Amino acid sequence: MKKNVYVLYGGISAEHEVSIRSGKTIIQYLDRNKYDVHPIYINKKGVWHPLGITGPDIQEEDLVKSSDLSIADSIAAFLHTDYDSSLENVFFSVLHGTGGEDGTMQGFLKTLNVPFTGNSVLSSAVTMDKGITNRLLKANDISQAKFIVLDRWSLDSIEDIDTKEIIEKLGLPVYVKPCNAGSSVGITHVKKEEEFKEAFELAFKYDPRILLEEEVLGVEVELTVVGNKEIKASIPGSYMSQDQFLDYDDKYNNPNQIAEIPYPKDEETQNKLKKLAVKAYKACSCMGFARVDIFIRKGDGALLVNEINTLPGMTTISLAQRLWEQAYGLDYPAFIDMLIELAEEAHRERNSLVVDRS
Ligand SMILES: Nc1ncnc2c1ncn2[C@@H]1O[C@H](COP(=O)(O)OP(=O)(O)O)[C@@H](O)[C@H]1O
Ligand SMILES: [Mg+2]
Repeated sequence: MKKNVYVLYGGISAEHEVSIRSGKTIIQYLDRNKYDVHPIYINKKGVWHPLGITGPDIQEEDLVKSSDLSIADSIAAFLHTDYDSSLENVFFSVLHGTGGEDGTMQGFLKTLNVPFTGNSVLSSAVTMDKGITNRLLKANDISQAKFIVLDRWSLDSIEDIDTKEIIEKLGLPVYVKPCNAGSSVGITHVKKEEEFKEAFELAFKYDPRILLEEEVLGVEVELTVVGNKEIKASIPGSYMSQDQFLDYDDKYNNPNQIAEIPYPKDEETQNKLKKLAVKAYKACSCMGFARVDIFIRKGDGALLVNEINTLPGMTTISLAQRLWEQAYGLDYPAFIDMLIELAEEAHRERNSLVVDRS
């Protein structure tokens, strides 16, 4: 009997479109000899649209549906008609950002007691928040840019923020980011003191907590880290044009972005990066897989962790799988199989834990 793999894509976040592309890629590469593949499109309002069992060649326009159901009714209908808990099921979510990468979907799937790929409730929630992540990395002596976290609720007004003090601590330019956003949404590269106010207003639209960081000049590299108990990092890679702030369009809509794999070329730095990526992954209790982004600072070559993405892009131009393939020779279907095996291992572990006093 084949396993049922439910692929969740779309979702309520600003990364809805890229999630559809990630979903299409996973649906295309899941091995039909092993799995019955059930795409589930989640629209921007959070409504579930199960497509039933599909083949690998489904077109992007057929992956998007609409209906008038409420979220609750759509999930109830799915559980009632498309899902059988007595079968072997796995959920493969490629919902990036809010509602998918922040632990909420993981909590729902955990409640259903079904295996799901990727990170746990805890590691998803922790790494979704750039402020909490930075504090956790700091507590584990992991090097990163100097930073300040500001909380909207402890300020009477944005005017109260002491920008002189910020400049004293972080210098200029400063990156102002909402703690919880992704894909460069709500981020401003502040070059002059006068630009802070607008940057704060923008970032606070997305989250009542914001992160201010000193600018790191250098190159940002990415590593894929995989595992639950035994954890390994891929080789590092980088986008050629990455000495500048990449906005949403650069990241997802620019087909001319060329990845250099591996980057950097020298093995000593590659090994240091791998160690650092694994340390950061473990510090945040990550599971399944994640992409760890690290700056190599120009001048002194310092390695500074930027962030951990627990549900990185999975399109064919995304680096996550390509880095792994070049490091360990696993093609896309084998990479997906590995993530499903890790999901099942994590599920078995969860179910072996004692939760009551008997
Ligand atoms: N402290 C920093 N110094 C230099 N560049 C930064 C800094 N923080 C962010 N950036 C630039 O902005 C991009 C987006 O910021 P990031 O924190 O990675 O947010 P996102 O979750 O949107 O990917 C990074 O890829 C990098 O190019
Ligand atoms: Mg990033």
